[in-house]
Amino acid sequence: MCGIVGYIGTQDVTSILMSGLKRLEYRGYDSAGVAVIEKNELSVIKTVGKLTNLGNKLKERTPHGHIGIGHTRWATHGRPSDVNSHPHQGISKEFAVVHNGIIENYLELKEWLVKEKGHKFHSETDTEVIAHLVEEFYEGDLIEAVRKTLAKVCGSYAIGVIALKEPDKLVAARKDSPLIVGLGKDENFIASDIPAILNYTRDVYLIEDGEVVEVTRNRVKILDADNNLVKRDIFRVEWDAEAAEKGGYEHFMLKEICEQPEAFKKTLSGRIIDGKVKLNELNFTKEQVEKWKKVFVVACGTAYHSGLIGKPLIEDFLKIPVEVDIASEFRYREPLLNEDTLAVFISQSGETADTLAALREARAKGATTLAITNVVGSTISREADYTIYLWAGPEIAVASTKAYTTMLIAQYLLSIYLAQVKGTMPEEKEAKILKALQELPCKAEEILEQKEKYLRLAENMKEAEHVFFIGRGYDYNIAQEGSLKLKEISYIHAEAYAAGELKHGTLALVTEETPVIAIALQEKTYEKTLSNVKEVTARDAYVIGLANEGDQEILKTVNEAIYIPKIENIVSPILAVIPLQLLSYYAACVRGCNVDQPRNLAKSVTVE
Ligand code: F6R
Repeated sequence: MCGIVGYIGTQDVTSILMSGLKRLEYRGYDSAGVAVIEKNELSVIKTVGKLTNLGNKLKERTPHGHIGIGHTRWATHGRPSDVNSHPHQGISKEFAVVHNGIIENYLELKEWLVKEKGHKFHSETDTEVIAHLVEEFYEGDLIEAVRKTLAKVCGSYAIGVIALKEPDKLVAARKDSPLIVGLGKDENFIASDIPAILNYTRDVYLIEDGEVVEVTRNRVKILDADNNLVKRDIFRVEWDAEAAEKGGYEHFMLKEICEQPEAFKKTLSGRIIDGKVKLNELNFTKEQVEKWKKVFVVACGTAYHSGLIGKPLIEDFLKIPVEVDIASEFRYREPLLNEDTLAVFISQSGETADTLAALREARAKGATTLAITNVVGSTISREADYTIYLWAGPEIAVASTKAYTTMLIAQYLLSIYLAQVKGTMPEEKEAKILKALQELPCKAEEILEQKEKYLRLAENMKEAEHVFFIGRGYDYNIAQEGSLKLKEISYIHAEAYAAGELKHGTLALVTEETPVIAIALQEKTYEKTLSNVKEVTARDAYVIGLANEGDQEILKTVNEAIYIPKIENIVSPILAVIPLQLLSYYAACVRGCNVDQPRNLAKSVTVE
């Protein structure tokens, strides 16, 4: 995710910006840059790649001054490149802007600036419109120009802005993206994250949504959305730098589990408008969609599990058959792909070698290829005909959590969009699902508010040698993801079974020593699942039921129940996995495992 740091004071700004950016490296980024006001010039130096690349550029020419802003970019709009890196400038080169977040209406604003105001753009980014708007509205007062700019933009942002004509101030603002002001003596800082400034100060103001701040060397003015002066208490940071990188969480995995409500909002952002799914990245015609006789969904691991849930959605909404394949198996079974096929490749990293090889195979056979990925500019996104980005922010823990749930959301959106184009989506059903998708961030919050209760469950399961996860339909698919999560980070052997399949062999392994997690959320299969649960309770297994809030019935069959908030049944898989992620997380903690970097595993698997 992008990182921001800004400084105004008496020290040399470039080295402070670089040290701040270094502290933000853990967040993941693909390019970096700084803007510094020198004597009569605003110097911007930026480059694709790691901070060492920027350091090398700065060795060629180091700007010297006492005010500046810096940024690490994790590409969203526009691939990683020198020109797309931040800071961005307008046409006059008198302003520089860094931005975290997404400006949803940037295309519309860009068109207005180009056609009506004669601006010329350099990059493919959404951020550049902010620089041009500030320039357009500037009449000698930077904070006013920023306010006018923000009144025009829709989306999420934390921004830092400097202007050559006002070298005594930094202006910053936030909406749905974190921003802090660090307080020093004769110097102040802005940053997206606390670690960026911890080398210099522990006293910060936490800026809130809708606020705009003006920061000089010895004064910080915070204005609310109505331009009223805000009095803010100083927050004293007591964490060490490592804890601060994780935002106070003990592990990146827990941080990323807890980021899901925010990630959901970002995946959905700008994609449901007036009760319809809008995927601007796709421009399929009815003829094109009607031509597809079959869909393949191809991926590995957790991404593959997400595809298993995509399959029934596409089949139900589009009324065509879908095959879901493990990418490493795909090429070796001569899949029947041709021009009448849509092939969907799901990959958080966008670099998984097997998924990439499968994509190339599908292209060679003439299929239309569509990637669902989290990493802009990744190889899979570049090679696919179409890409849907997750916008979940970088995932650092090896075990995938927020990428999985946002992959699910992307597939709900994709299947509804395709069915809309094809004309096979009943309006009432569409409306219900879209409403439920929009409820997800709040409902996920409700689960996360009670996250500690999964610690107790994990304690009870700590000594188990085997754990079974069972369910039917979507509940089975969630069981598959829950079991992978548990085994990969806690090293407890776990298996997922279609609940009805246990009695065909595996039931032999169930004893009183085997905890069973029974997922019973799907109304269609509820009774049948409970019958299967009785088969395991009859063998004295301890059963934890995962049920819909209010389901008291299940308590007659299971030993204890955990609940997800009520939501339209068809989208319940997206919430259902969160308790299982938490259970796995705490199981790994209580067993003393390396949660973020489990043994033998890597975040990005670039070998076949
Ligand atoms: C498990 C996990 C892996 C990945 C798999 C594919 O938690 O993260 O199973 O899902 O290696 O990776 P991507 O999605 O990057 O293609």
